[in-house]
Amino acid sequence: MHQTLVHATVGIPLFLIEKSQFNHWLDEQTEQVKNWLKNTDYDGNGLSLIPSPNGDLACALFCGDDLNSLFTSADLANKLPARQFLLRCDDSFALNACIAWGLSSYQFDKYKQDTSPRASLAADDNHVVQQANHIVQATCLVRDMINTPAADMMPEHMAKTVEYIAHKFGGVFTQLVGDELLEHNYPTIHAVGRASVHAPRLLDLTWGDKKHPKITLVGKGVCFDSGGLDLKPTNAMRLMKKDMGGAAHVMGLAYLIMSNNLPIQLRVIIPSVENAVSANAFRPGDVLNTRHGISVEVDNTDAEGRLVLCDALSEACNDKPDAIFDFATLTGACRVALGTELPGFFSNEQEIATQLLSLGEKHDDPVWQLPLHKPYRNLLNSDVADISNCASSGFGGAITAALYLQEFVDNNTPWLHFDVMAWNNRKLPGRPVGGEAFGIRTVYEYLKQKYAL
Ligand code: BES
Ligand code: ZN
Ligand code: ZN
Repeated sequence: MHQTLVHATVGIPLFLIEKSQFNHWLDEQTEQVKNWLKNTDYDGNGLSLIPSPNGDLACALFCGDDLNSLFTSADLANKLPARQFLLRCDDSFALNACIAWGLSSYQFDKYKQDTSPRASLAADDNHVVQQANHIVQATCLVRDMINTPAADMMPEHMAKTVEYIAHKFGGVFTQLVGDELLEHNYPTIHAVGRASVHAPRLLDLTWGDKKHPKITLVGKGVCFDSGGLDLKPTNAMRLMKKDMGGAAHVMGLAYLIMSNNLPIQLRVIIPSVENAVSANAFRPGDVLNTRHGISVEVDNTDAEGRLVLCDALSEACNDKPDAIFDFATLTGACRVALGTELPGFFSNEQEIATQLLSLGEKHDDPVWQLPLHKPYRNLLNSDVADISNCASSGFGGAITAALYLQEFVDNNTPWLHFDVMAWNNRKLPGRPVGGEAFGIRTVYEYLKQKYAL
């Protein structure tokens, strides 16, 4: 990723002005600037590049409706020429403008030979630049992990990434690989991942002072989801390199927590597997034991996310954290319910859920609560085991998946489960097509508010 947001005091001035302030701003400009804007029919809306008498770029002006809204000024990074601009705006807009700039200048160019030069933004407040860069880097970590082709983001590569981030912030990284999962009683993670030539792993990152409240993050790390023996159809399989999006999300959230040094004792647990097909693949009808002791009948090998997550969640509950947040590209049904741009979440603790809803609105990272509707639990009944890994009908699929996970979570441990798309299907300002983080700024703001203020 290229650094396009820097702390500096030089650059071509880039004025960000709220529409309501445009006339006031214009009054203070030179005749030449006024003439240019008049002669180009600038109406106080959007971008204008303003030249100097010799044809140089004198400054850039952008007017928007509500600069408190994060993505209002996004896309400037893609519209301005490849020069360094110096941010000139009201202090209250500076952080959002820097974040939006960084998020919109992202490009996944690891595999491209030609990369064109990019515009960069300088801001003179070092604190603002640092705060923005933490968010931008965390988001770009999520995007990079998801965008990386599955062949280069298998469990062993993911392990390296998690280890790298752990060490960057002085955390501790450990892992269990292949048959070690059986020795340490993670039967479902092993069963889902055993058919791949890339051995399944449980990745574990710990960071922070043991005196601080304990927060555990769990992320679905299915490096590629072919569907297993109940193979996915062509179109449904095409984007399944993103099925480790939950793991990427929790690494992005961990990055935010660690780079901002939140007073939290952090643990990140990632079951990392490929859901592949081979002679030793797990099968529909197989009964798996779980770390918790509950037996599961595999109705469909494509409902693998909840299988790898259930052992990870049991482990997360073991050391009695103050809260667990899990992220997973768990169900297509959640996308049918809410579309691809709004993540659904579930919780056994309404107070936290309510706060997340309002923080999501406030920080332009919305999340939507869905119910852990108990009467649907018996849709998961199995004739031969304690529970089935999915219901026979797809109706309410996001809810039944969450109810399955809840069976493995301690009732007294606050638990938040996010079912995310992890992908932008269409380009929006600041959000290029491809891997995307949903909800991590919201959860970060909740943790900051609860533990750091
Ligand atoms: N990774 C998929 C879910 C998914 C698909 C998330 C598309 C986002 C976009 C998951 O492993 C899966 O295949 N779930 C099945 C469950 C079904 C077999 C009960 C689904 O949602 O169809
Ligand atoms: Zn699947
Ligand atoms: Zn999956």
